[in-house]
Amino acid sequence: MKILVLNGSPKRDKSDTMHITRAFLEGMREAAQQDIHIIDVIDRHIEYCTGCFACKRNGGACVHDDDMRGILEEILGCDLLLFSFPLYCYGMPAPLKALLDRTMPLSSLAMRKVGDRYEHVGQADFSHLRYLMICGCGFPNSRRNFEPAVMQFRLCFPRDHTILTVPESPMFSAPEAAAVTVPRLERVRQAGRQYADSGEIDAALLAEIGSPMIPEEQYAAIVNGTVQPEA
Ligand SMILES: Cc1cc2nc3c(=O)[nH]c(=O)nc-3n(C[C@H](O)[C@H](O)[C@H](O)COP(=O)(O)O)c2cc1C
Repeated sequence: MKILVLNGSPKRDKSDTMHITRAFLEGMREAAQQDIHIIDVIDRHIEYCTGCFACKRNGGACVHDDDMRGILEEILGCDLLLFSFPLYCYGMPAPLKALLDRTMPLSSLAMRKVGDRYEHVGQADFSHLRYLMICGCGFPNSRRNFEPAVMQFRLCFPRDHTILTVPESPMFSAPEAAAVTVPRLERVRQAGRQYADSGEIDAALLAEIGSPMIPEEQYAAIVNGTVQPEA
């Protein structure tokens, strides 16, 4: 499978979230050979969409001549589009959002009703494409935190999407938290294997991955510097 990873963390490979993404990809590789390309979005030249809709008149070409031209081709050529990003103000970091806005040339202005909502009609055939979101965050709770980002992803990619949300993700970059992060990353690897084998992940496994690794209050106390992590 051709996998395009959009790493939306400005911290590049030091990203807490990328620990989760790398474990997931390792699991996918254990199940089958994968062709993986990772883009650190922060290093790409991506202008903001100006909303001019010139791409609707120029045969799909954007007015900006920047790295998005190559990225759009890579998106069209992959089988799995993986968004890996930290939660920023309940959404995705701005550089990744700029990239998402600039995918506008891939859809036409035409709209069609699907169920009770409208969607734009694609300019290309995306029926082979699957979408994965892996999102880490700094708070210990998944409730009333990830919802806006999850909803945005579901609405942007209504079909064939899978979403992993992982709270307390700074712990993945803390060697002293290995007692809880190593087993959690093993569960993420298992999810990657399942996804590569069947295109799906067990709901119970997804829920486990999305649960706090240590009690919320203990995590908050460690972050607040009021207790030391256990050795
Ligand atoms: C600008 C900014 C906004 C953030 N907003 C949230 C937020 O809304 N909810 C949350 O739980 N964590 C938030 N965080 C914390 C990050 O999601 C967290 O530190 C994450 O582990 C960083 O992941 P990364 O290393 O992959 O970039 C925010 C961090 C920054 C810098």
